[in-house]
Amino acid sequence: MVDHQLGTTLPQELYADEITLGIVKPHAYSHRMAIENMITKSGLLIPVRKFPYTISPSLARLHYEEHHGKYFYEALVEMMTSGPSEIMIVEGENAIQRLADLSGETDPRSAATGTIRHRFGQKDGQIMYNAFHRSFDPDPSKARRAVKREITLYFDREELPPHIAELLDAL
Ligand code: CMP
Repeated sequence: MVDHQLGTTLPQELYADEITLGIVKPHAYSHRMAIENMITKSGLLIPVRKFPYTISPSLARLHYEEHHGKYFYEALVEMMTSGPSEIMIVEGENAIQRLADLSGETDPRSAATGTIRHRFGQKDGQIMYNAFHRSFDPDPSKARRAVKREITLYFDREELPPHIAELLDAL
């Protein structure tokens, strides 16, 4: 199911200028409302959500292909396809960096207090149980390419409201 509720009642001129992708991972799916609250309380919008959404093995492999060959790749694919996820587009000024900051460090044990991964990542488990994926790269132009690639993997263009499709084109 694709849901267009959160944030879509705001007038167009209030929409900020950047979008990014977030995924609540299967092991954290039961916390998806709390994670959404953290995001919206930070001032970001969630204009499009897809849930419950079980990622197929072929899609997980494609999404994480840069990790192909690493020791955790097969286990990561297995975990990401093990149950429902929530896929979301997050919107706001400087949304890519802000969602990365709110997510916290990849390893939940290193994630700062107040971040999603600190709160919901498994600190006694493997790094992949870090509750939340966000599109990111420290190089801003690579980050924008990653966001565009990943949103296109999870959403067909016709599922997107027109202003989100425009922001996607602008990446
Ligand atoms: P994510 O944001 O989903 O993007 C890539 C994922 O690979 C990352 O979060 C972790 O889930 C996983 N990952 C990265 N490094 C490791 C690691 N050293 N061990 C296990 N999983 C990892």
